[in-house]
Order: sequence, then C-alpha cells, then structure tokens
Amino acid sequence: MKCLIVYESYHHGNTKQIAGAMAEELHADMVKATDAEYASLAGYDLIGFGSGIYAGRHHVSLLNFVRRMPHLDGTPAFIFSTAAFPEFKAVWHRSLARKLRRKGLVMCGDFSCKGLSTDGLCGVIGGVNKGRPDAGDLARAKRFAATLVASVPKPQRAPAGESPAQAH
Ligand SMILES: Cc1cc2nc3c(=O)[nH]c(=O)nc-3n(C[C@H](O)[C@H](O)[C@H](O)COP(=O)(O)O)c2cc1C
Repeated sequence: MKCLIVYESYHHGNTKQIAGAMAEELHADMVKATDAEYASLAGYDLIGFGSGIYAGRHHVSLLNFVRRMPHLDGTPAFIFSTAAFPEFKAVWHRSLARKLRRKGLVMCGDFSCKGLSTDGLCGVIGGVNKGRPDAGDLARAKRFAATLVASVPKPQRAPAGESPAQAH
C-alpha cells in the first residue's frame, strides 16, 4: 500500500514528530504542504493530512493545499493534529474533514495529541504541554496508523506485464 503524509508544523515541530512516527509505521512518503505536488497524489492508496491547530483550524497552507487539490474520488484519507487542547479535536478537525469529503476522499479516521504551545497566554504561563508529544504519544500515533493499514481496502494492482484491465 502506497501512503503519503502531507503536513505542516511550524510552531515547535510537534506535528512533524507525529507525522514521522506514522510515516515509519506506514512506510509512507512525507511532504510539507507547501512542497506537495498535485500530480503525484493519484498514485497513493492512502493520504494523511496533518498540522498543528492554529486559531481553531489546521494550518492555512494545508487548508489551501486541499482547497486547490483535484478530486480524488474514493481515495482513503485520514486527519491528524497536535494541539494545546486535543480534547476538542472534533471541532478542530471539522473544517479539513469537510474539505476532504468535498474532494471525494473517504475519511478512515483521525488522531490528535498534545503538543507544546507557547503561543499567547500559554506562553505567559511558561507554556503548556511541556515535553509533548512524548514517547507515549508517538507510540499511540503508530498504533493509530496500524489500525488504518488494517481497515483500508488493499489496492488491486496488476501483476507485472499485465494491463490493469486484465487484473482480477
Ligand atoms: C498562533 C497559534 C494558535 C494556536 N491556536 C490553538 C488553538 O486554537 N487550539 C489549540 O488547541 N491549540 C492551539 N495552538 C497550539 C498548537 O496547536 C500546538 O502548539 C501544536 O502542537 C503546534 O504544532 P507544530 O509545532 O507542529 O506547529 C496554537 C498555537 C499557535 C502558535
């Protein structure tokens, strides 16, 4: 199964750590949203989209990437994030999930965990979620990725020398 992870992680590199753990589990390619190319997307069987949460949403570069993305009807997808308050992931993930569904992707799951934040008031009190994500968060991200492998339908690839129309 060919997997791609498209991410943005500018505040403390928190989401990049989570993306890396998932990429290890999925043997996935990893690319920043600003470097990702639309032309290569159709070759993937599963695509993950993640960033930190900033003012209640995923990073604008990720949202813009998805907004301009071609339709990928039926492609399995997942969402992830790190946040000061991942308890609200249903709220934080809503906008990106809606955009992905509009592009025809099929949502297979989502994941969020705590990430160090020194933004605004969090910074005034010396930061929240110090040391996060930690080893436990990375392990949970890997377990989440493993559940995706089990749930996503296996791609039907044609054996070498056989055209896709001949594959069973
Ligand atoms: C400008 C800014 C706004 C943020 N807004 C939120 C927010 O609305 N909700 C939340 O839970 N965390 C918020 N955070 C905390 C980040 O989501 C958190 O630190 C995240 O782990 C950053 O990920 P990154 O290091 O990958 O960029 C904000 C952080 C910044 C810098």
